[in-house]
Amino acid sequence: MTDNNIYPIFDRMLSREDKEELLGQHSVMIWFTGLSGSGKSTIAIALERELHKRGLLCRILDGDNIRSGINNNLGFTEADRVENIRRIAEVSKLFIDSGIITIAAFISPNNDIREMAANIIGQEDFYEVYVSTPLTECERRDVKGLYAKARRGEIKNFTGISAPFEAPLHPALTLDTSKLSLEESVNQLLDLILPKIQIK
Ligand code: PPS
Repeated sequence: MTDNNIYPIFDRMLSREDKEELLGQHSVMIWFTGLSGSGKSTIAIALERELHKRGLLCRILDGDNIRSGINNNLGFTEADRVENIRRIAEVSKLFIDSGIITIAAFISPNNDIREMAANIIGQEDFYEVYVSTPLTECERRDVKGLYAKARRGEIKNFTGISAPFEAPLHPALTLDTSKLSLEESVNQLLDLILPKIQIK
């Protein structure tokens, strides 16, 4: 007969705290929201590099690694965007529970969708960063040529052109990349985030 008490230490999965201790960091969610081409992914990548240099482990989630994989069956209807963000929030929670600082860069176009993400992840861990670069500037950049296509009606439901974007009500930080350099944006983020993630 097996005595269940022989291995009591195996009874529970290691906790988030165990993993944070192992990594020497507190995990949080840094959630970028803003129009296509506003600079979300660029800032996310630069932020990750700065945190990495300081010995802090991060995971970036963005369109490149999510919409091409786990969410490759989703488009840009309202319902698909909700499902996109719901899955991203659930995946983010797994990373956060592993002690990893998680950085998401998605349009996440309205307050309800971002509120859903914050509720899945946990309000206390959720730092909403609004990349507020104006539409005129995003459209001027038109890095992927999508704004031009949307103006010609070749892409439906394009955020800012034929689908709405709602600015966050109380973001932890607002960054307008038409006014701030990349370095200035990252420095503002470091000021906000480092005190939350570094173990004293
Ligand atoms: S959302 O609204 O959060 O579900 O969108 P997200 O997953 O961030 O995907 C946005 C990127 O997809 C490209 N794309 C579109 N964006 C908005 N509306 C429509 N209809 C659309 N179709 C394709 C676009 O390149 C976005 O890229 P980013 O990285 O934001 O510039």
